[in-house]
Amino acid sequence: MKALLSITPGGPETLSLSDIDKPSCLDDQVLIKVSACGINYPDALIIQDKYQFRPDRPFSPGGEIVGTIEEVGAKVGRWSKGDRVIALVRWGGMAEFVTCSETDCLPIPMGMPDNEAAAFIFTYGTSYHALKDRANLAPGEKLLILGAAGGVGLAAVELGKAMGAEVLVGVSSEEKLQVALDKGANDGLVYPRGPFDKESSKALANSFKQLAGKEGANVIYDAIGGAYAEAALRSIAWEGHFLVVGFPAGIPSIPLNLPLLKGCQITGVFWGSFCERNSKGNEQNNAELEQMYINGKIKPLVSRTFTLSEASHGISMLADRKATGKIVVEIP
Ligand SMILES: NC(=O)c1ccc[n+]([C@@H]2O[C@H](COP(=O)([O-])OP(=O)(O)OC[C@H]3O[C@@H](n4cnc5c(N)ncnc54)[C@H](OP(=O)(O)O)[C@@H]3O)[C@@H](O)[C@H]2O)c1
Repeated sequence: MKALLSITPGGPETLSLSDIDKPSCLDDQVLIKVSACGINYPDALIIQDKYQFRPDRPFSPGGEIVGTIEEVGAKVGRWSKGDRVIALVRWGGMAEFVTCSETDCLPIPMGMPDNEAAAFIFTYGTSYHALKDRANLAPGEKLLILGAAGGVGLAAVELGKAMGAEVLVGVSSEEKLQVALDKGANDGLVYPRGPFDKESSKALANSFKQLAGKEGANVIYDAIGGAYAEAALRSIAWEGHFLVVGFPAGIPSIPLNLPLLKGCQITGVFWGSFCERNSKGNEQNNAELEQMYINGKIKPLVSRTFTLSEASHGISMLADRKATGKIVVEIP
């Protein structure tokens, strides 16, 4: 089968399309013929050995796929040959076939096409867990989202609207601002790309304060980190929630006088661990997301598609801050 392989640690340019043996399916696994693979930021990290998982090489990136089950292991009870599923496989998805545990698979919401199904659960699952379970976002609250035109950020925009919040966004270009406004954001700003010194950090903090208004933002969703985190935290409301989601701009250090002065909570979000530790809560969230999709409240924005041989360009777009919404690799 064809697979895009990471053979040595490095950027997307180090990936190569190769012919390898089809994986064999263990008793508790299913073998899936992949039809599409969503690209997520962890794909840019895992190939550089900078992610929480470090698979043995060679391996394919691609943690989120959609496809058809071609073979089921002897102990698999939940799925049958021919079922069309979404699967969260951690890595290995940028290939024609992948194996995974039966519990890594989910049914596809009714009427959802392949490229949306490959761009759905990782981002919406993360952002829904963050806003619902970690921040208890309530109707009428102000929600400020950083990196709002990216994968998890844009999902947070739609979910924030669906949950009745006033959605404010921060992004790094006018094009990205338009993407977030088109998905329902109420207002937003374009921030600089950095680097930031003392003066520009202060200007950034002031621009977030102006956007959030006198009372500040009740919930801040930070999927980017770096200097943006502290600048945004300065605009949080009394007893607000600051959600720590991701660090493409670097891992920030926060002066601890800020949460004291704001009486706020800095709250970690680790969706993968939540799914493992609270499978019932995760199933409930997935069912609610499916309903929101069916009711037209959420819909993944697939802004670009690539073939398997071009997939490294898709990963480069995320790493270079050029992607909006989701990029999907189609594997016909
Ligand atoms: N905590 C969890 O459970 C969880 C789950 C899923 C993902 N994540 C994390 O969430 C983050 C976003 O993931 P994603 O898949 O949504 O990625 P994405 O689509 O690439 O979006 C990330 C956004 O970060 C912003 N950004 C700021 N500085 C950047 C830089 N130096 N390089 C690249 N982007 C930069 C970009 O927006 P602007 O250009 O507008 O700033 C970009 O749109 C990643 O760190 C990922 O690991 C966490």
